[in-house]
Amino acid sequence: QQNAKESLYLVSEYANEYFQKILHKTDQGKAIGLSYFKERGFTEETIKKFQLGYALDEWQAFTDDALGKGYKLEFLEQTGLTIVKDQKRFDRFKGRVMFPIHSMSGRILGFGGRILTNDKKAAKYLNSPESEIYHKSKVLYGLYFAKQTIAKEDNCFLVEGYTDVIQFYQTGVKNVVSSSGTALTSDQIRLINRLTNNITVLFDGDAAGIRASIRGIDLILEQGMNVKVCTFPDGEDPDSFAKSNTLEELTAYLDENAKDFIQFKASLLVKEAKNDPIKKAETIREIVNSIAKIPDAIKREIYIQECASIMDISENVLFSTLAQISKKEY
Ligand code: CTP
Ligand code: MN
Ligand code: MN
Ligand code: MN
Ligand code: MN
Repeated sequence: QQNAKESLYLVSEYANEYFQKILHKTDQGKAIGLSYFKERGFTEETIKKFQLGYALDEWQAFTDDALGKGYKLEFLEQTGLTIVKDQKRFDRFKGRVMFPIHSMSGRILGFGGRILTNDKKAAKYLNSPESEIYHKSKVLYGLYFAKQTIAKEDNCFLVEGYTDVIQFYQTGVKNVVSSSGTALTSDQIRLINRLTNNITVLFDGDAAGIRASIRGIDLILEQGMNVKVCTFPDGEDPDSFAKSNTLEELTAYLDENAKDFIQFKASLLVKEAKNDPIKKAETIREIVNSIAKIPDAIKREIYIQECASIMDISENVLFSTLAQISKKEY
């Protein structure tokens, strides 16, 4: 069992070397992959640091190479790097720039691969499947590079995607991780909680995502952590914002725009409910639901007071709603 896992790590680490070699040493890699990364503003140093790579636009270039080097098909298939179908073998990643996903200790667990065209039919990112070594719900992209700075700064920025992590890091904000497209899990939050009690969640500027992401944040409150949130101007995400701003501008923006999560949610709900009494009743239950997740009674009381003022409602109503919810849950 342990040996089988080690074999998967070794295959993944070989693939990581291979994709980097293709990016830096082949004509196709340089012309397509490397120039793509450069256009996104990534420096040579950043590309090397994050071990970015490129998968050739061929059906089985990687698989043939790895088999030739003696890696077993069984393990290539178990990592998802090779897909076997009707006795034929295909590379999972084809004509994509590659983002390796590291464990806390720097081992390679899997990959994300991005297409280079704006072809709306193909998935923008293709990811390694779950495997014996890659459990998506327990991994945060970038944590390997960020862990020391998270502890030092006593704060962790949580972003949506691979390129947000990389661009922040390059700009100089190194305490940044991403759940990379999957919904945030308690296991992922626990990884951060071991390093700091403070999380700042950064949303893409597309408002649609914000409402959905807000649910996952209750999981952070449950662990007794302090949560702030920050949005970016319409159409921007942390990557594009960091790309077009200096470190000073970026940190100033974050300082000025990061808001306490409960206050942010209360204000957002007030705006949504406007003067509709039924909606307003729902929003009260929704905000109290979040407050109920906070383990510390003193913090709960402070938030009740603040939300009462934001939502223009009496503290008593909020306290009695909190009591109802608590009774149901425990
Ligand atoms: N994602 C994914 N599969 C997709 C789309 C997104 O796995 N088809 C994940 C990726 O990890 C991606 C993250 O969700 O980084 C955030 O998605 P999105 O904001 O759409 O992508 P960006 O990270 O902004 O990517 P880019 O800037 O390259 O367009
Ligand atoms: Mn902690
Ligand atoms: Mn997005
Ligand atoms: Mn994005
Ligand atoms: Mn982006």
